[in-house]
Formats: sequence, structure tokens, C-alpha cells
Amino acid sequence: MYDFDKIINRYGTNSMKWDGLKETFEQDNLLPLWVADMDFEVSPAISKELEKRVKHPIYGYMHWSDEYYKSVIRWMKRRHGWEIHKDWILFTPGVVPAVSYAIKALTDIGDSVIIQTPVYHPFKTTIESNGRNVVTNPLIYKDGTYYMDLEDLERKLDSKTKVLILCSPHNPIGRVWTKKELNELGEICLKNNIIIISDEIHFDLIYKGNTHTVMADISPEIRDNCIVCTSPSKTFNIAGLQVSNIIIPNEKLREKYSMELEKDHIGRANVFGQEALIAAYNESEDWLDSLMEYLEENKNFFIDFIETRIPQLKTIRPEGTYLLWIDCSGLNMSSDELNEFFLNKCKLALNSGEMFGEEGKLFQRINIACPRAVLQEALIRIEKAVKENI
Ligand SMILES: Cc1ncc(COP(=O)(O)O)c(C=O)c1O
Repeated sequence: MYDFDKIINRYGTNSMKWDGLKETFEQDNLLPLWVADMDFEVSPAISKELEKRVKHPIYGYMHWSDEYYKSVIRWMKRRHGWEIHKDWILFTPGVVPAVSYAIKALTDIGDSVIIQTPVYHPFKTTIESNGRNVVTNPLIYKDGTYYMDLEDLERKLDSKTKVLILCSPHNPIGRVWTKKELNELGEICLKNNIIIISDEIHFDLIYKGNTHTVMADISPEIRDNCIVCTSPSKTFNIAGLQVSNIIIPNEKLREKYSMELEKDHIGRANVFGQEALIAAYNESEDWLDSLMEYLEENKNFFIDFIETRIPQLKTIRPEGTYLLWIDCSGLNMSSDELNEFFLNKCKLALNSGEMFGEEGKLFQRINIACPRAVLQEALIRIEKAVKENI
């Protein structure tokens, strides 16, 4: 019913992924599989609502409507089994700004914030740009998958450590953390007075056989010790509309957070973001289910191709997200050589694994949210370049 095979020309739309190639990679004749948005058109319901709103020619200040709150509350209940209240919901124009406001609200300059590397790179830069210290608690890479290292975490905690940023599901390694893993992490944080900023932006993009658990839905104690960052942006491909829901059940944390937003006058409704979210959460569930089927097939197609035709590479089988993490150690190249190889030999724009922490040095991240023919083209380019390189 939805055509995810359709190739849509995004050049000339100011797309960071397509029109931003030259700025980032110094060349533009690349197949872009980097920035985490999708090359699929949005659901018809979203297009229809936006078209309707565009026709009303005034785009002044907005307030958040009752329907908006209801849509968010129903989505959390229906898709995640999580009961939330209207007053728990705050707004930011993105999850990265939300993480930054949380750092400001919950820590002082000079305090330490923990991240679990390899992880989404703006966590580190946001901590640093706010004058806080980054403490890394690297994940354990074992038998082709990743685990949290809770012993290392406990060893690293001290009186300066105030916050841990959790990436759940985890970008770039694709883990959907189990309830048991999250509970163990949550208990350690409670015991040591560490507040969890839980970035759950990828929480709707879960592959068959896995279940996402919202951090704040594990126990009343953990609920009161975390800030949950959500958004329809990854799920429905509306990142450019800049709408995020930051859900904070604990009243004291919420007050601190709100004060930080108020200082910068953040939190007003976005004309189009609001309409898109309502159409997404109320009328686009079947589109999301179809998207996940397509992504599941893309993922399997990619992994099968690598296993059968490019055995020098190894894909970390993701449990969620449309980002694949590729172990390139079998190519026997340094990190710089790998970047050069994918850029100049394959003509692909990927994310260098090193961006996500030094543990990612021999990895690359590929975004598979594109028509299968594009993915196939990328794989053929890699296969050819690897063969030429042997
Ligand atoms: C884990 C994670 N958090 C946040 C973001 C970006 O959030 P936003 O665009 O809402 O700031 C991304 C985008 O890739 C992400 O992967």
C-alpha cells in the first residue's frame, strides 16, 4: 500500500544528507547513507494535514492543543504500554537540545556526566560545550553484540558524577536494551544518586522479536529518577519539523527542567510540528507498521549480502533503529584508511565509526532507511572496491 521503493530526488530541498555533502565530505558525487533521516515520503495523513495547514496563510504564535496532548498520551499507552499524565510532558525543538537543557538543569559546571560509548556523538560535544566532564563507560563488544559494563560503571562513579545519558535503543550499535539490563542500570543509578537522561528517540523502530522498555516504566523509584526524551521525528521522518516531547514524571525534576527552558524561552508550539505529530500519532500507525516490515527486509537483505559476498565485513545485527554498525576490522585498515576507502573507493557518504568514540575506530555506520535499490547499489560498490583492494 505504501511505496517505500520509490526513489525521491531530495536534491535542492536543503536536505543535510543530500545537499550538505560538499560541506561535510568536500565532494558531492556520493551516495549518502549517513544523516539519520529516511529517504521515504511521510505518511499520507501527515502530508494531508500539513497541506491543509499551509492553506491557512497565517503562521503566528501557537499554543499546544488538547488534541496534541491526547495524541502523545495515547501513543505512549498504545505503542509502549506506558501511562503518562498531561503535566509530565514538556517540549523542546529537538532531543539534542533537550539533553543539553537536562545537563544544565541537573548538573553544575565541572560535574561529570556518563556516556556509554560508542554512542551518538552529540552527547559528548553537548556535555563538553556546557563545561561538564565526559566520563565514558564503554560497552563490551563480545560475540558480535554489545553489553553494558556495569562493573566499570560502578568503579567510575564519584561525588562529581551526577547524570548518565542512556541511549535506548542504542545508536549506533542497534541494541534494544532488555528490561533486566535497564533495571540493573537503573538500580545502580538510584543507589549512587545518578539521574538518568534517557534518550528514547528511536523507541518506535524495533525489529521483530524485541521489545522496547521505557526507562521510566520499570519501577516507581526509577521513574522518579529519569527524564525521558521522545519524539516522532525518527519514527515518521519529520526531523525538520523540530518537535520533541520530554516526559518527566518527577515533579521536582520537572520544575528544575522547566526553569531551564524558561530561561531561554523554549517550548512554544511549532505550527507544522504540532499538526504533523497529531496526524502521525493518530492516523499513521499502519504506515509505521509497513515501514518496519520494509526496514526489516532491508536489514536482512544487507546482512545476507555482506555474509555471502563481502565476508571481510561483519554487520552487528540490530534489534532496533535503521542504523547498521559494520565491523570493518577484517579489511586490515586504520580508521583513516577506512574513511578514505568508503569515501573515495566506494563513493559512499557514511558515518565514520570513530565519531562515536574511539571504540568505533574500525567501524562504519550505514543508514538503511532508503529504497532497496539504493542499498543494493551501495553494497555493489563496496563489494567491487573490496575485491579491487585484495
Ligand atoms: C540517539 C539520538 N538522539 C537524538 C538525535 C537527534 O535528535 P534531534 O534531531 O531531535 O535533536 C538522534 C539523531 O540521529 C539520535 O540518533
